[in-house]
Amino acid sequence: MITSQMDFYQVLRPLLFSLPPDMAHDVSQWAFRRRLWARLSFEGKAELPLDTTLAGTDLSNPFGLAAGFDKNGDITAAVTSLGFGFTVVGSVRAAPHPGNPRPWFVRRTRADGLVNSMGLPSRGAAHVKGQLEPLSLKVPLMVSVTGETTDDFLRVCHELKGVTTHWEMNLSCPNTSTGRTFEEDLESFRELLNGLRSHPQHLFLKLTPYETERGRERTLEMASLAVRRGFKNFTLCNTLAVEDDRLGIGRGGLSGRPLFPLALKALRDFNQELGDEISVIGVGGIITGSQAFEMLNAGAKAVELLTALILRGPFVVEKLIRELESTMKAKDFSSVRELIGHSI
Ligand SMILES: Cc1cc2nc3c(=O)[nH]c(=O)nc-3n(C[C@H](O)[C@H](O)[C@H](O)COP(=O)(O)O)c2cc1C
Repeated sequence: MITSQMDFYQVLRPLLFSLPPDMAHDVSQWAFRRRLWARLSFEGKAELPLDTTLAGTDLSNPFGLAAGFDKNGDITAAVTSLGFGFTVVGSVRAAPHPGNPRPWFVRRTRADGLVNSMGLPSRGAAHVKGQLEPLSLKVPLMVSVTGETTDDFLRVCHELKGVTTHWEMNLSCPNTSTGRTFEEDLESFRELLNGLRSHPQHLFLKLTPYETERGRERTLEMASLAVRRGFKNFTLCNTLAVEDDRLGIGRGGLSGRPLFPLALKALRDFNQELGDEISVIGVGGIITGSQAFEMLNAGAKAVELLTALILRGPFVVEKLIRELESTMKAKDFSSVRELIGHSI
């Protein structure tokens, strides 16, 4: 089904993609801040029951906006009018941080990929609280938290505990005392988990993807350590580290379609090794509804996306819902609840 909204991005996309990627990013953030898309918001109804439950919260559909697009809560009302089943704000830091020197983005258009080196810029937890507190949102909200010390994480949680009960801990920020990320340094990871125990709400640990057997072993070792301490929710995956001279710092994180096989494999590894005690949000390279189908079928409780929004435009959720429904019908599934984990 083609709607006028879909045609509209077919015209806009070549214009946006003819701009340098950093400029295109700034223009699109400006458009969301001005709520330009809200006038065309998604009103379409799904034909099949797409509702599901994530960590005790009911979602009208399994598609969430991944962390990184709405970093400061400045565009939360605008993005939640686009049909997402939930949204993630952040990653939020305790104090304002400018991120890395620009340029921040390189497109890998033919591969449906993007590399970013934003370096987790944030206007800080107090600003985000001021943005989110007055909102009355139509969909559940999750806050993504990051920081360089355990104390940083706890400060963000403390500041924002009135605006959400669902959290995603982004562990890919370098720890100030070691220069390594929490994922690279088991000792600081353990300390972080101990700190987070005092923060007993629904909490997802977001991890980076791995390409090697050693990476798989390390990630699963971390995950089982977390499970033993009672942390059973994971978001798989963050971006994949790559080098690119065109970026301000010469390296960044790859997102988009090339990540999909890694995210799907990580989901399957986690389900196999950690059993059905855990809940996983699948994220990484979901560009089409049939990829969302695969991820849910492999056991993801919900999915998130970001690069697909950039590649397919503000009405991406409507497109994904239509595609997911048509894959479900073709394969004889009548609801998302029936689909989730069917192939495990
Ligand atoms: C521009 C950009 C900024 C991002 N910023 C964050 C962030 O602040 N925190 C985080 O946990 N992940 C961040 N990510 C990673 C995404 O949340 C997601 O895990 C990753 O992009 C894979 O999903 P995708 O292929 O659908 O984009 C960012 C990704 C992109 C492309």
